[in-house]
Amino acid sequence: MSKDAVILTGAGQIGMAIARRVGYGKKIVIGDKRIQNAEAISKIMNEAGYDCEPMETDISSRASIKNIIAKAQEYGDITMLINAAGVSPSQAPIETILKVDLYGTAVLLEEVGKVIAKGGSGVTVSSQSGWRMPQLTAEEDMLLATTPTEELLNLEMLKPENIKDTLHAYQMAKRCNEKRVMAESVKWGERGARLNDIAPGIIVTPLALDEFNGPRGDFYKNMFAKCPAGRPGTADEVANVAELLMSNKGAFITGSTILIDGGATSSYYYGPLKPQN
Ligand SMILES: NC(=O)c1ccc[n+]([C@@H]2O[C@H](COP(=O)([O-])OP(=O)(O)OC[C@H]3O[C@@H](n4cnc5c(N)ncnc54)[C@H](O)[C@@H]3O)[C@@H](O)[C@H]2O)c1
Repeated sequence: MSKDAVILTGAGQIGMAIARRVGYGKKIVIGDKRIQNAEAISKIMNEAGYDCEPMETDISSRASIKNIIAKAQEYGDITMLINAAGVSPSQAPIETILKVDLYGTAVLLEEVGKVIAKGGSGVTVSSQSGWRMPQLTAEEDMLLATTPTEELLNLEMLKPENIKDTLHAYQMAKRCNEKRVMAESVKWGERGARLNDIAPGIIVTPLALDEFNGPRGDFYKNMFAKCPAGRPGTADEVANVAELLMSNKGAFITGSTILIDGGATSSYYYGPLKPQN
């Protein structure tokens, strides 16, 4: 019997939490650059009654993205995309952050958007980081939203000499995710499908633990102390939002980015997290 198919890219805590919330009864193809991560999450989920298949996938490669789409289509129509693959500023150099988080996400949304089933929905995970930079110009936003994927990394604003450090690369990537989701959601809409983005604050996962232990560790401790929630978040709280976005209750929501950060961004602009100089 053919099943609805779900593509999950990024076999981390956030990806798994979302897949557990929306993927029961469906075939879930789990792609990760580190196959052992995909295998580990598949095992946990299969032992909890899900139907998962791990697959080595690199979202920074269009060919690899096409492979996971073809694999999912062997099982049925692709009705869901969950993209929680990414690298953080402490994990990778500028080029990798731009190639994976910015370009890879854009290609994934584009390729899945060509095949997503009617009634289908997708979420991608950006970050509160994208909300921290000064606003870009309307023209820059337009370029991030609509530049053909293969030309994205040639944009002047993304050239190495214009990217200060890995945090700046991450912020640009996450801002681009939001803009791509808006532009792609129009195309997904033509197929009767919806696409949204979740921008989490600090969520306790292996990626975040690398950040806590990295050069910006004190910055994070300060953020938890001074944000309204007073703590980091959990992957299951991100999954609460994804469930709303991907279910029928979210039928009127598409092209949106939902910020879920315990109020850290609000505090950054208007509270005790506001930069002093
Ligand atoms: N954890 C947080 O605090 C936090 C906050 C905001 C945004 N995010 C974003 O959420 C997403 C998921 O992060 P997480 O915290 O669950 O991290 P995680 O490290 O648990 O999971 C990320 C997964 O992506 C995989 N990956 C990396 N590069 C890849 C590639 N090229 N192709 C396929 N897979 C690749 C990694 O191997 C890893 O399994 C990321 O995009 C991250 O930027 C996380």
